[in-house]
Amino acid sequence: MKLPAPQIDDRTSLTHALAQRRTTRRFRPQPPSLAQCAQLLWAAHGVSAPGGFKRTIPSAGALYPLDIYLVWGTDHLPDLRPGSYHYEPQAHELRLIAPGDFRQPLAEASLHQTWMAGAPLSIVITAEYARITGKYGDRGYRYAHMESGNVSQNIFLQAEALGLKAGIVGAFHDRRIGEIIHAPPVHEPLLIMPVGYGEQDH
Ligand SMILES: Cc1cc2nc3c(=O)[nH]c(=O)nc-3n(C[C@H](O)[C@H](O)[C@H](O)COP(=O)(O)O)c2cc1C
Repeated sequence: MKLPAPQIDDRTSLTHALAQRRTTRRFRPQPPSLAQCAQLLWAAHGVSAPGGFKRTIPSAGALYPLDIYLVWGTDHLPDLRPGSYHYEPQAHELRLIAPGDFRQPLAEASLHQTWMAGAPLSIVITAEYARITGKYGDRGYRYAHMESGNVSQNIFLQAEALGLKAGIVGAFHDRRIGEIIHAPPVHEPLLIMPVGYGEQDH
């Protein structure tokens, strides 16, 4: 599914987004639009220059060991059915991997962090280490983890710029998360970021 083109001329203050960024664990039911989802995915790992080579994040040796999955849980958008999707940066497309609302299983596999299921969507960042350890050996592991930090901060800041909020989750059963999102076993889950319109944490 082709995604709406990213907007690169918004006027949000970066300083404001940095100051407002918080891990959010309470979300309103209202889901983001398809354009907002597309913008989040582009900020996470999208192509940012003609030719399809450069991305919104840096990558050691430009090897890009990460993949981005979207777990979409609500019925509100006719174009986007609940399911697990893989983001294809080159084409700026979503590929349906498996239909269904996987938010509750995702929360349960994250040590029962039930708040996660309250977000209309989650973005899952995975690493395929072989793509980077082939060149850098064991050092490739740390590079992949650094890059997931770049992706997650981009998601946090893009969410702020869209009036959305994000959470970040590193506590989960790796293999189970991979099974739930129907990722191949070589795509190892690193972080999950629930996103939506925020409500105040108590
Ligand atoms: C790598 C990483 C893993 C995290 N895992 C979780 C998690 O599993 N559950 C959770 O509620 N928060 C998690 N957090 C969020 C932290 O608790 C949060 O960033 C910290 O309390 C600071 O709050 P702030 O992000 O609102 O500034 C994680 C943060 C990071 C960077």
